[in-house]
Amino acid sequence: MDVILRAEGVDFFYGEQQAVSNADFVLARGEVAAIMGSSGSGKSSLLYCLAGVLPPARGTVTFDGVELSSLPDTELSALRRERIGFVFQYGELLDELTVEENAALPLRLAGVAKDRAHAAAARVLGRLGLGDLLRRRASKLSGGQRQRIAVARALVHQPDVVFADEPTGALDSANASAVLEEFLRLAKDQDTAVVIVTHDPEVAARADSQYAMVDGVLTQRVTV
Ligand SMILES: Nc1ncnc2c1ncn2[C@@H]1O[C@H](COP(=O)(O)OP(=O)(O)O)[C@@H](O)[C@H]1O
Ligand SMILES: [Mg+2]
Repeated sequence: MDVILRAEGVDFFYGEQQAVSNADFVLARGEVAAIMGSSGSGKSSLLYCLAGVLPPARGTVTFDGVELSSLPDTELSALRRERIGFVFQYGELLDELTVEENAALPLRLAGVAKDRAHAAAARVLGRLGLGDLLRRRASKLSGGQRQRIAVARALVHQPDVVFADEPTGALDSANASAVLEEFLRLAKDQDTAVVIVTHDPEVAARADSQYAMVDGVLTQRVTV
C-alpha cells in the first residue's frame, strides 16, 4: 500500500478536555476514508491534527514520509498550502471575490500566475456545473453553488489529500449527493485521497474505508 498519511497515537486537548484519544489512522494514495460520529465526538479536532492545522499533544502525524512536527512553520504551511485541500462545513468563501478567484486561490497563493490559475479553476468549476458563473461574486450565490466552489477550491491544486469536514452540511439532500458525487469523482480522477466527515450512511458506504468516532476514540469499522 502506497501510504500518503499516517497518524499514530494522536492525543489532542483543549485545556483539560481531551478531544482526541490515541488515534491511529492510515490513508493510502487515492483512498476515500469516511469518518462518522455524533456532534462533539472529536471529528473536526482529529481532521485539524491530520491536516497539520493543530499540533497533537502526543503522537505523530506523518505526511508522505515526513513527520509534521519536524517541520519548521514555514515548511508546514507550504505543505498545507500545496499538498492538502480542505473543505469546511459552510464553505468559508471570500464573498468579495468572484467564483473563479475563490477557486483559484490555492494556486495564486502558491505563486501560479493569474491566467494559468484561473484557467485551472475554470476547468474544475466547469466540471462542477459552475462554468457560467466564473465572474459572479461569491456573495451572490446559493448555498449549493457556494459549496461547489469550496469543493473546487480544495481540489484545484491537485493536492495529495483533501479533508472535508461535513462538506454538505449546509445543503438539502438532493444537492448534497450531487456535490458529493462530483467531489469523489474529481478526487478519483486526479488520485487525490479524501478524508470525509459525514453523517450520511450512503456516503460512508461509498468510501473505501469507514471509521467511527465516539468520545474522542477513533475505531475503524471492519467491512466483510
Ligand atoms: N475551540 C475549542 N475550545 C474548547 N473546546 C473545544 C473547542 N473546539 C471543540 N471543543 C470541544 O472538543 C470536543 C470535540 O469537538 P469537535 O472536534 O469539534 O467535535 P465534532 O467535530 O465531532 O463535533 C467537544 O467536546 C467540543 O466541545
Ligand atoms: Mg465538527
